[in-house]
Amino acid sequence: MIPRFITLEGTEGTGKTTQLHRLAEVLRARGHRVTTTREPGGSTLGPDIRRWLLHSQDLEAATELFLLLADRRQHVAEVIAPALAAGHIVLCDRFTDSTIAYQHHGRGLPLAVIRDANALATAGLQPDRTLLLLGDVARCLSRAQQAKGGGDRLDREGLAFHHRVAQGFRDLARQFPDRIHTIDANGDLDTVTQHIHHALAIV
Ligand code: TMP
Repeated sequence: MIPRFITLEGTEGTGKTTQLHRLAEVLRARGHRVTTTREPGGSTLGPDIRRWLLHSQDLEAATELFLLLADRRQHVAEVIAPALAAGHIVLCDRFTDSTIAYQHHGRGLPLAVIRDANALATAGLQPDRTLLLLGDVARCLSRAQQAKGGGDRLDREGLAFHHRVAQGFRDLARQFPDRIHTIDANGDLDTVTQHIHHALAIV
């Protein structure tokens, strides 16, 4: 049985967006109804919030957190919860784990605040399964920066920031081994797809 609410997480440039769309195609071909979405950006406010987050100058860490959470609250209410209620499988590109990895481990905001804020933003909704794509941090980051012509505000954070984020994700995977499956993202696209199918028992 395929989990209903699946999130893809990971550091920059691991190919999770490509993998998410590949997975959606495979699931649709098997007759599932699938909603694909992403954070930040999935709510009706999302495109504006995403632009502010990725391209504003000098955002305070707390401002960044509030913007992400405003988008998440609307996204859960407008998109994710209704799709799940309608029987869809929801594939979401980033969700609450990113906030712990980036805003706590990366930015240093307090974990307890982020946990409470996540709970408020999601009204308690948690992913059934999380596919965590982790690869060589420096190589993946430079791939992401090249693909985006220099990168956005978060891509341009130093390597030490991105290593802290990766460590944050690894800690989460250790804490929630039943939910979070770590996928080695260093291989080619097809190999990573195979790992994902294996994690979801898609044969
Ligand atoms: P993306 O490039 O994977 O679409 O993600 C956009 C950026 O937003 C990425 O650098 C990670 C960041 N982000 C956070 O910092 N915290 C969050 O909670 C989310 C959802 C994304």
